[in-house]
Amino acid sequence: MAENSFIISGENLIKIYEGNIRALDDMSVSISGGKITVILGPSGSGKTTLLNILALLDRPDSGNVLLNGKDTSFLSEKEKATIRNRMFGFIFQFFHLIPELTVEENVMVPLMIRNPDVSFDVHREKAITLLEEFHIENKKHSYPNQLSGGEKQRVAICRSLIGEPEIIFADEPTGNLDRKAASELISLIEILNKNKNIAFVIATHNENFLKIAANVIYLSGGKIVHRG
Ligand SMILES: Nc1ncnc2c1ncn2[C@@H]1O[C@H](COP(=O)(O)OP(=O)(O)O)[C@@H](O)[C@H]1O
Ligand SMILES: [Mg+2]
Repeated sequence: MAENSFIISGENLIKIYEGNIRALDDMSVSISGGKITVILGPSGSGKTTLLNILALLDRPDSGNVLLNGKDTSFLSEKEKATIRNRMFGFIFQFFHLIPELTVEENVMVPLMIRNPDVSFDVHREKAITLLEEFHIENKKHSYPNQLSGGEKQRVAICRSLIGEPEIIFADEPTGNLDRKAASELISLIEILNKNKNIAFVIATHNENFLKIAANVIYLSGGKIVHRG
């Protein structure tokens, strides 16, 4: 069961891209452990930029991201990578599976990075247990290009879970799924949140996520226009 006591807060975040594009135009958000937070807004409103900054993949031009009250701007890239590997999981619109690796190898990757000295077989066993839990163990020797979109996203979920994260960041996770696979993914996220107490931050266009959200942040033009 994930701990649920952490808080990630973004304070007065500003991110400006070339051409004076204010992707984040001074916004403050707070993400609590154990909760599903949905970031909703039209294309170009700043969802991905916000998600990547909160997940310590990118830095703001000004403002701070605090993890349990501690400013993360002083952390080295290596320290941030360790936090991402140990505490965070990631799911993406285009799945980001490694095409040259099989399904089970893709799922093992975060543990191989974390514990390179542990035998592959130990990591493999964990990967297979997850693949069984998500009913996709029959594809363990397949390559990503042999899977449907829904299957790829289930493999990506297994990969995001193998490190036992406290929070999963998901960027448009239903963006390349048909309606049925999208609705299955939403139910799965709800179950993972309830049963394993994993927090989610989900950037999406898909209003069906509102059904499972504890908090909703509506963005437009790099600003928060509403909180629900
Ligand atoms: N790497 C980048 N370089 C320049 N502009 C960018 C970059 N990433 C995003 N932007 C711009 O920042 C704004 C917000 O983008 P993004 O966060 O990707 O929005 P969303 O995820 O809501 O579609 C958009 O105007 C986008 O074009
Ligand atoms: Mg985006």
